[in-house]
Amino acid sequence: MGRFISGFMLLVLVACAQPVAPSAPTAEEIVARGQYLVTGLVGCNDCHTPMTPNGPDMTRALQGASLGFAPTVEMPWGAVAPPLAGGPAGYSDEQFIAFLQTGVRPDGSMARPPMPQFRMDEDDARAVAAYIKSLPQTQ
Ligand code: HEC
Repeated sequence: MGRFISGFMLLVLVACAQPVAPSAPTAEEIVARGQYLVTGLVGCNDCHTPMTPNGPDMTRALQGASLGFAPTVEMPWGAVAPPLAGGPAGYSDEQFIAFLQTGVRPDGSMARPPMPQFRMDEDDARAVAAYIKSLPQTQ
């Protein structure tokens, strides 16, 4: 038992001695993570990209779209999801990153539903913003 424990302690020491800090991600890696978050998880394309019977038309990714659904009760409602490709109009990079972390627009108001109020952490917000800024605005 003693031998097992000292062997285990040695392993822990060896593991702790390894360098743990990964190198900072490159700009390409940040954009790739943003693409994964946007297309694989948070679904910005479900509203901000024109819809087809087979899902969002990714040849027009994040170019803005009218929503194909409406609330069943009256409420403040944004029926059009504005274009985002290249970055949303009227936002600095830092304002866009803050919006993804708080839901607060540059003028201090909140976007209307169904726009979710995202609470991303800073790394995710920066990655999502970097990916969206990298998309060409085609419309
Ligand atoms: C469920 C639909 C939906 C999803 C999903 C969605 N949005 Fe929106 N978004 C909207 C609508 C609708 C508006 C317009 C709201 C308004 O007019 O007040 C909007 C507005 C915005 C705005 C503009 C706010 C402004 O100042 O006018 C930004 C920026 C934005 N969305 C970014 C995103 C991003 C980035 C994602 C994914 C991480 C996303 N949205 C996901 C529906 C959506």
